[in-house]
Amino acid sequence: MSKIFVDACLGKETPYTPVWMMRQAGRYLPEYMAVRKEAGNFLNLCHDPKKACEVTLQPVDIVGVDAAILFSDILVIPDEMGMDLSFVKGEGPKFSDPITCDADIERLIGGEEAASKLTYVYDTIKLIKEKLADDKALIGFTGAPWTLATYMIEGQGTKTYNICKKMMYSNPELLHKILAKVTQVVKLYMEKQIQAGIDVVQIFDSWAAAIETEKYDEFSWKYMVEIAEYLKEKYPHIPIIMFPKGIPSFYDRVYGNFDVFGVDWATPMELAKEKLGDKYVLQGNMEPCRLYSKEATTASVEHIQSVMNSKRHIFNLGHGILPDVPVENAKHFVSECQRVSAKK
Ligand code: CP3
Repeated sequence: MSKIFVDACLGKETPYTPVWMMRQAGRYLPEYMAVRKEAGNFLNLCHDPKKACEVTLQPVDIVGVDAAILFSDILVIPDEMGMDLSFVKGEGPKFSDPITCDADIERLIGGEEAASKLTYVYDTIKLIKEKLADDKALIGFTGAPWTLATYMIEGQGTKTYNICKKMMYSNPELLHKILAKVTQVVKLYMEKQIQAGIDVVQIFDSWAAAIETEKYDEFSWKYMVEIAEYLKEKYPHIPIIMFPKGIPSFYDRVYGNFDVFGVDWATPMELAKEKLGDKYVLQGNMEPCRLYSKEATTASVEHIQSVMNSKRHIFNLGHGILPDVPVENAKHFVSECQRVSAKK
């Protein structure tokens, strides 16, 4: 059976424009909170294929999105490379021993060995594929090497990225060594996700905007393209979505073999269409906070539809849904996207 989401990623005509939401499996759903409580904490939930499968399917069943996204986290990659990941309540992710020098990089587990430790992710994918309806797609994902490296170097989230940037400008070789080692693991990790059954790949470069335009290709984009091209060569039928958040100043320089470009909420869809719409299918890009108001949601969906006009487009938010959004409003967003784009 054909999947409307996969068809849309490949630029084929579909009965309506498919929709999903970044971070759709999460805390705004009471059903998610119940399963997380049973698991004890967030990482236990990631490590438990049965429970991770259950929360992956929740937004498909409850909110009506056209694709499921694997429930996991980008930071399980550095965790399995030997960095000790924890989530501190109210403070977010933490690594106790951030990377500061060559010896720290040498100690990291690399390549096949690291990718092989993520078996719980592949087991989750296999379970999801058994349960997901044939007409819905499953999205697998990774963080971009740069976004992963920011946590590995800073040891946590950061507002200024000063430790990474000190390395970028004063010891770029060291930063490239980290990025290259992560890229190698990510290639094999995504390959194993594909072999386990995902239908589409998304690469999240959530912290792209921390890098100046002149340096973005060198420290992030070229590694994302290397991953995409490795996968495209071996699995040309699997669509790849690139989501670099907040870099419209780089749009003129975007290149590479992938299918869909994710547009963040601060970039006008008109601009993305003009610069990239002929080369890539565009995904996005409602401002996630519009979900607090049904009227603001409908107005944005109608505007995005008027720009994209059901051509080479996938509806999404321009970043993740927040935990205090009413479920009813998320449902409204999804049904409005399907309504305005339905072909008569
Ligand atoms: O999209 C989905 O529904 C699938 C699951 C998913 C999670 N994280 C679950 C999660 C995905 C795709 C991610 C990606 C991720 N993780 C990114 C890139 C995407 C983005 O939003 O920019 C980043 C930067 C991370 C790192 C991360 N994980 C942070 C900074 C945090 C804490 C911040 C927060 O939102 O609380 C997490 C934790 C996390 N990952 C949660 C979920 C549902 C919340 C954990 C909980 O249940 O308490």
